[in-house]
Formats: sequence, structure tokens, C-alpha cells
Amino acid sequence: MIDIHTHILPGVDDGLQDIGEVLLMAEDAAAQGVNVMVATPHLRWGERQELNALRIRHEVADLNALMQAKGVPIEILPGCEIPLTTDLPERLQRDEWMSLGDSRHAVLVEPPWEQWPPFGKVVIQSLLDAGWSVVLAHPERYRFFQQRLGLLEELVQMGVHLQVTTGSLIPGKASPAVARCAYELMERGLVSAVASDCHGVTHRRCDLGEAAELLRRTYGPHVARMLTDGVPRALLRAEKVELAQIWKNAPTEDSRWKRLLRAVLRRETDDG
Ligand SMILES: [Fe+2]
Repeated sequence: MIDIHTHILPGVDDGLQDIGEVLLMAEDAAAQGVNVMVATPHLRWGERQELNALRIRHEVADLNALMQAKGVPIEILPGCEIPLTTDLPERLQRDEWMSLGDSRHAVLVEPPWEQWPPFGKVVIQSLLDAGWSVVLAHPERYRFFQQRLGLLEELVQMGVHLQVTTGSLIPGKASPAVARCAYELMERGLVSAVASDCHGVTHRRCDLGEAAELLRRTYGPHVARMLTDGVPRALLRAEKVELAQIWKNAPTEDSRWKRLLRAVLRRETDDG
């Protein structure tokens, strides 16, 4: 599997802070069947110096050398979580901000938390017109999207990919409003990728394996594979993906809810 949203680059944002944590997270992810993690740090965090593509490439190269030296079967690719700003296309063009996996094809974009910006659609359309694939990070976590699913439908119609976070789908990990929005998007077949957005080795850990199992039981093996591997792989290879390719052969709505209920009950039994 490929985790396209992680804060595994240490000491740059609110994610991991040291190399010891990096190794623990990578080993944990590998044990779950993850083999590629895209490092997607916030570009600016608190008083820390703003990151740029050059520095991210160097630091990721160091991490890959560490993975090899320690025999951890994880490849880390460079990337970042890009704030939705008016100068986003220029900064990408200038190679200050970085595409997912340095693909020069797909970008992981994070809107501001307070409100959907008035220029949001214009900036996204200009990226799409220039040939970029745009992945919107965890829309289900925003109050303004929870209250305006129509806006997300419009963005998807424009060609935007929605990335839902694993913790929004796994029972008990997210608030009811976030979980409800995540499942509503899944039920409408609007989601293109699921990623962990992991920040730590205990809290907000990489749980892509657990989410993939839940997805398999609820939406079937094809959808689960596409959301956790097929679509991320295609984006990194600079290939276009259509939602219909992901959601074809999904079980009917009635059987999906029954499957989800079974998966949740089984999880509680396993935990208990
Ligand atoms: Fe993130």
C-alpha cells in the first residue's frame, strides 16, 4: 500500500520529532503492508523556518538511506501539504513547493480551516487547466465542508480528488460529525484515496492497514485496493484516474451498511 499523506519527516512540523520515532513509525507501517510513504510536511509551522522543495528532497534522501541501513522495507517519497493560497500555482512552478512524490503531476492541497476561501475554485481550476491532479486533504474534517457537501460535489465534478483520513473511518477515532461526513462521501462514491495523515507513533499513528481491512469488509477488495494503493500509485506515476474506475463493482448500499456493521462488531469483539 501507499500512504500519500504522512508527517514522517522529523522536526519540521507537528509530526514526528526525531529519528527514533521515524523508525518506529516506518516499522509499524511496514508490518501493516505499507511499502511507500509520501512525506507531506506542513510547509510552515510555528517559528520554524519555511520548508522548500530542495530541503524536503535532501531530508527524504537521508531518511531513505536510514531505512536501507536499518533494513526497514519502506520507501519514503518527498512531498508536502500545500496551503490553498493565491500564489500556489506560481510557487509550484518555481519549484518552491512540491508535488506528491516529486511527480510534477499531483499535489496534496490543504484549504484553510476557518472558511473555504473565495478564490479556492479559481486557483484549483487553474491547476487543473495546467494539467495538475489536485488531491484535497481530509475534506471531512472541515466544518464548512460538513455543512456544504454540495461544494465538495462541485469540486469532484471539476476533477478534484478527495483524500479521506483513515482515522475518520475507523470507529471511535473521530468526532461523530467527521465520521458522518467521511462515510457520506464514501457512500456517494466521491472519495479517491484514503491515507493516514499520521503524526505520531501512538496518537494519530499510521493505521492504513487497519483502515484497508475495514474498507475491504465494507466496500469490497477492489475499492479497498484502489483507495489505498491503485489511485496513489497512478497519481505518483502521473496517470489520470476516474472515479468510476474506483467505485465500479462496489457492493449495493444495503449490503455495504450490513458489511460495515459486521466489520465494526468484529473489531469490537477483537478489541474486547
Ligand atoms: Fe497532514
